[in-house]
Amino acid sequence: MYIAEVLAQACAAGNDGPSGYSVTGKPEKTAKGWRLRLSRHGTASPYGNDISQIAVDVEFQTKDRVRFKIYDPNNLRFEVPLKIESPPLAAEDTSYDIEFVSDSSIQFKIIRKATGTVLWDTSLVNLIFSDQYLHITTNVPSTSVYGFGENQHPSFKHNMDHITYGMYSRDQPPQMYANLYGVHPFYMCIESDANAHGVLLLNSNAQDVTLNPEPSLSFRTIGGILDFYVFLGPTPENVVQQYTEAIGRPHLPPYWSLGYQLSRWGYSNIDVLKQTVERMEQYSIPYDVQYGDIDYMDHQLDFTYDKENYAGLPEFIQELKNDGLHYVIILDPFLSKDQPRGSYQSYDLGEQLGIWVNNSDGVTPAVGKALAPGMSVYPDYFNPKTAAWWAQMCIEFRNVLPYDGIWLDMNEPSNYLNGQYPGCAHNNLNYPPYIPRISGSSLFESTLCPDSKTYLGSLYDTHSLFGWSEAKPTYSAIQEATGKRPFVLSRSTFVGNGKYTAHWLGDNHALWEDMHLSIVGILEFNLFGIPQVGADICGFYLDTTFELCLRWTQLGAFYPLSRNHNALGQKDQDPGVFGIEFARIARSTLQIRYSLLPYLYTLFFEAHVSGNTVARGLMHEFPADLETHGIDRAFLWGPALMIAPVLQEASAMLV
Ligand code: NOJ
Repeated sequence: MYIAEVLAQACAAGNDGPSGYSVTGKPEKTAKGWRLRLSRHGTASPYGNDISQIAVDVEFQTKDRVRFKIYDPNNLRFEVPLKIESPPLAAEDTSYDIEFVSDSSIQFKIIRKATGTVLWDTSLVNLIFSDQYLHITTNVPSTSVYGFGENQHPSFKHNMDHITYGMYSRDQPPQMYANLYGVHPFYMCIESDANAHGVLLLNSNAQDVTLNPEPSLSFRTIGGILDFYVFLGPTPENVVQQYTEAIGRPHLPPYWSLGYQLSRWGYSNIDVLKQTVERMEQYSIPYDVQYGDIDYMDHQLDFTYDKENYAGLPEFIQELKNDGLHYVIILDPFLSKDQPRGSYQSYDLGEQLGIWVNNSDGVTPAVGKALAPGMSVYPDYFNPKTAAWWAQMCIEFRNVLPYDGIWLDMNEPSNYLNGQYPGCAHNNLNYPPYIPRISGSSLFESTLCPDSKTYLGSLYDTHSLFGWSEAKPTYSAIQEATGKRPFVLSRSTFVGNGKYTAHWLGDNHALWEDMHLSIVGILEFNLFGIPQVGADICGFYLDTTFELCLRWTQLGAFYPLSRNHNALGQKDQDPGVFGIEFARIARSTLQIRYSLLPYLYTLFFEAHVSGNTVARGLMHEFPADLETHGIDRAFLWGPALMIAPVLQEASAMLV
């Protein structure tokens, strides 16, 4: 039963029945598909302020991509400013059908034509579309569901036993089921006959999703609109290709960034850094990138370096570069406002330009507390003036430190206070009626108040886009400063970040289980279109051990982004510090990576051009083999290389 015919019957069904939405008027044909109008009747939904008239636009965007957008046709609501291009006219010969069942439930279905499998199946009568609570549930055709991020969870294939994931960017070290740094409301489902499809909910408000055993998915968000895109595949690789065609293909990383990378927080001075680099040379460890964490800065101030502890850093970076290495510097998205007047030009200029995130009045800067001494303000990267200022700062700073890439940290954005000074007002943005399942159960814990104003609107809508908004200006600045292909590593990411940045999985722990979980994260970010991803090799928090670090180096040699990084106060864990035996094994494993770099680079090229994954689960290549659906202790590079690392202590000889 197809759209026109069915809708006529739906209209005839009228407004009787339980509270909820019913179809009003006749369906309208649009250039790209259909528009339905729904109106709400009966008692109010749990959080009130129901939008009484809503519209559903179904757009047949491409042969394999259908969008349905549920919105308020009478009032503009926040929409994510990610432009997804589609032809002006409805696609023909689509691989999907849309169906409305005319009974009182107003069932809305998306069906794969080739097999009749129902990919999306929701009852619109039960939809809730109120001002600060939007809720929709759909049945899905199988329990082989992957994706949704950024969250820590025990397996790549989701457990669908009433598990809820919150999505709201947060400075949160990986912790089971917690919402972490980025937001990716995207999943892929492998159907029972091995076809696959993907679904994006393009929404940036705080939200959560519950995975139920029916199997079904229940989406709740506290703002914006319900803007869904369905990608028909039919192979898992096709799903990611179609997804990245929509949201932006991953950038092509510079070749050097595929080499081994070394970092730590806590090189207390330049001599310590030099000794580390010497150890790498002494043991001939393959190595291409050295990082500078906040230690290189003068009092942790962006766009400065410590002229005492790091005296000679510009010259040392130049030496590294002469030896063929590359240097990446960290930048934080906050500037101290309390430096002596005239001594901190980056802040002074920004202040003069008025480019910070503001309080709810839209004029006075929001003042939080972050790393650097004093209180901090936050650049509002959505403002074109901010992007220009940031670019200028990055470009000018390259004349001071000849860096090759930039590492964007703390961009959730992070704040040591809960909300800015002097606290968050009691209003419906800071204290919405429904708070999704997020850590801290507050929208302003460790960040700014949601009623703060950015160029694009309140942080209530744009909070989880903060890191995303920083990505493009940084990418462009490096391009201009270096004249080369940029490398940007970002902690917070959103849909489409892969176009500009790589990602690391955040502040993990030196624990055996974290090695396994890193594979889950890496496979997920490949689904999200951010294939250049890795975890901190040997673990960030806690002191690592010889065996753990060695095994992790062996696994990490096959991360798309291979970086060893460590927290302040932990013991050194670079491959040269454990002695000759460790160094020998690390060297030979990394030499395997280096011998395969042409293959890895080709995979990144294919990701950039066609949207393929680089690291992929075995089910990508063998979706018909159910055994593969749950495998996440081994993974593939492209179609042709399987990596099956040792993930358990004392389980094999150290070779
Ligand atoms: C938090 C980051 O996640 C970590 O990688 C970094 O070392 C510290 N900030 C210090 O900059």
